[in-house]
Amino acid sequence: MTAQLLNGKQLAADIRSRLKEKIAGFAAAPGLAVILVGNDPASEIYIRAKQKACAEIGIRAEAFHLPENTSQAELTHLINRLNNTPEINGILVQLPLPRHLNEKEILLAVAPEKDVDGFHPYNAGSIIQKRAGAFAPCTPKGILRLLDTTGKDLNGLNAVIVGRSQIVGMPAAHLLLNRNCTVTITHSHTQNLQKICQTADILIAALGKSEFITGEYVKPGAIVIDVGINRTENGLKGDVNFAEAAEIASYITPVPGGVGPMTIAMLLENTCEAFFKQHRS
Ligand code: GUN
Repeated sequence: MTAQLLNGKQLAADIRSRLKEKIAGFAAAPGLAVILVGNDPASEIYIRAKQKACAEIGIRAEAFHLPENTSQAELTHLINRLNNTPEINGILVQLPLPRHLNEKEILLAVAPEKDVDGFHPYNAGSIIQKRAGAFAPCTPKGILRLLDTTGKDLNGLNAVIVGRSQIVGMPAAHLLLNRNCTVTITHSHTQNLQKICQTADILIAALGKSEFITGEYVKPGAIVIDVGINRTENGLKGDVNFAEAAEIASYITPVPGGVGPMTIAMLLENTCEAFFKQHRS
């Protein structure tokens, strides 16, 4: 292997311990409401990891596990109540929601100043308009932090993103554009995907297909960021064929231990930011 590992686990641990120290200096603890509707097994794992991470650094995580048949009105009512609860500084609605719920309307109900996931249109739009103080979604924000550990100037680099989700691909594109990268967003309809990926100085794989990005997609010396978490019969796999890509790239994130821990660290950071802002005003 020639690529250097981008160690998200270590970086996330450093961020968590800094946040823990900062919180310890306050009389009150930040509060995060974590809402899960239904019993999606992957979501249950993520939620538990987020709650554990909160507890470790002194954030009060209040869990709301609602039944699968929760109505739009019931969920909206809960969010409205949390919007008006001063001890709750951040609200997280775990996605995906059951199909009968209107996800866009639910995300719109979260008060923008408590939207620590950065999914409310106000925060999503603020990233595009480069408004200061908006919450950036946790996974793309974590990716930028990992890129910064390389010490490379991102100015003018070609960034190719595979996947255009609202959670990862789209916001990652805007954050990279704000850092003066030349950004290409690719998706399931893209023609000549492999050719486009071969132009990437920064290649971000966020398509949700196990080991889809093989060595042929990777430009020599590229920075490869693997957002995939695919549970396969051969264990947990990313969207990148790690063994192949690591022979060609200059830097690469492992799965697990790359982007995943950074997503949680950025959630904690956004929650602390929300807390500090709400206590200032
Ligand atoms: N589902 C997959 N990723 C995320 C995330 O970052 N936040 C929430 N709320 N749901 C998700």
